[in-house]
Amino acid sequence: MKIISVVGARPNFMKIAPFIRAIEQHNQTCANEEKSYIEHLLVHTGQHYDVRMSESFFQALGIPAPDINLEIGSGSHAEQVGNTMITFEKVLTQEKPDWIVVVGDVNATLACSVTAKKLSIKVCHIEAGLRSGDETMPEEINRLVTDRLSDLLLTPDKLSMENLRKEGVPEEKIRFVGNIMIDTLERNRSQSAALDINRIIQSNRLTDALPHNDKEETPATSLLESGSNPYAILTMHRPSNVDKKEILAPILNFLTEEVAADMPVIWPIHPRTQKMLQQFDLWDKATACKNLILLHPIGYHEMLRLNMSATIMLTDSGGLQEECCVLGTPCLTLRWNTERPVTLKEHGGASVLVGNNINRIREEYQTALKAGRIPQRPELWDGHTAARCVEAIVNYPG
Ligand code: UD1
Repeated sequence: MKIISVVGARPNFMKIAPFIRAIEQHNQTCANEEKSYIEHLLVHTGQHYDVRMSESFFQALGIPAPDINLEIGSGSHAEQVGNTMITFEKVLTQEKPDWIVVVGDVNATLACSVTAKKLSIKVCHIEAGLRSGDETMPEEINRLVTDRLSDLLLTPDKLSMENLRKEGVPEEKIRFVGNIMIDTLERNRSQSAALDINRIIQSNRLTDALPHNDKEETPATSLLESGSNPYAILTMHRPSNVDKKEILAPILNFLTEEVAADMPVIWPIHPRTQKMLQQFDLWDKATACKNLILLHPIGYHEMLRLNMSATIMLTDSGGLQEECCVLGTPCLTLRWNTERPVTLKEHGGASVLVGNNINRIREEYQTALKAGRIPQRPELWDGHTAARCVEAIVNYPG
């Protein structure tokens, strides 16, 4: 059996790492157990290309270098999807895989599933069935199209199975396998726990954000040195939060004037967000606030370490929402909807939807500060999802 798996952007890498490891484990046992050997190729579409957004994750998570890099780079959605389809079609025509495996909901997921399906190659989608119901989100379009075309839909939770059933997906195409991101979290938990928070800050700090006298320790940094002081983590990159000044500016005001007045706010900043802050003339305000600690995009272990001890997470990332659920970090999700309801408080998780309305954010921020850490583990978020994914593909009828 020949499988091509596809990655394109940062959130894909932590999902593919355990899948590739599970294929290797399958191949080690298949000689004895007469299971079919899997020939595997990894294709990177190149949507994310900065070392900190891509290569560093390959190194940290032990992902083999991609066999093929399509080097698509940045561009409009149509450019990214169109260019990926054109180049990926050539790869498929040459390699003739039995399956392609796509993960998550980025442009690579959509582009490669459509291309494979048109060549009658079977498509497996890991993280199928997530629905935010919000078709203004590019990821929702990617999820809908990919799931509609996939032959095998591997879901992270039972709510996702229900979504697929409601859409009329035949039962035999759906398997509940659990959350593959949590395989990566469990495998890397102890390595992350050993990292020093202050060192993470020092080595990832954005130069522009350093105080003018760079010999002087900032109060924020020394606060964190004692190890038990509160701090918040912030990540933001969704177009709905960062692409409009009238939305981004009040959020920045709230952060600098209210959250940063309570505790240091550690902000590993996405390239898109940095670009927008600069474009809207908000960059100086962000860098002038001493308790707002701006970092470059940080690595997997570093983010996990910060999350483990954070007082609160403010984020619009779906993956961090899931990690907060398992770690128990109170999480304010800066969105009006989520495709991951299983992580919300009403389903036993740690996250609450706050959108981008400042009054609502403030209210939930105050509530969250009083909440303790309550780790939760949704069903089958057990660190063994990747093996179930491989098994589902190998046992696929026909
Ligand atoms: C993409 C995914 C999103 C995911 C996010 C995680 C889609 C539709 N969106 O959004 O689901 O949550 O990745 O990061 O696939 N840039 C760099 N260096 C890079 C990559 C991007 O500087 O390595 C900058 C470019 O200016 C680019 C911008 O970031 O235009 C946005 O990148 P893009 O890949 O278009 O989407 P993301 O916002 O990263």
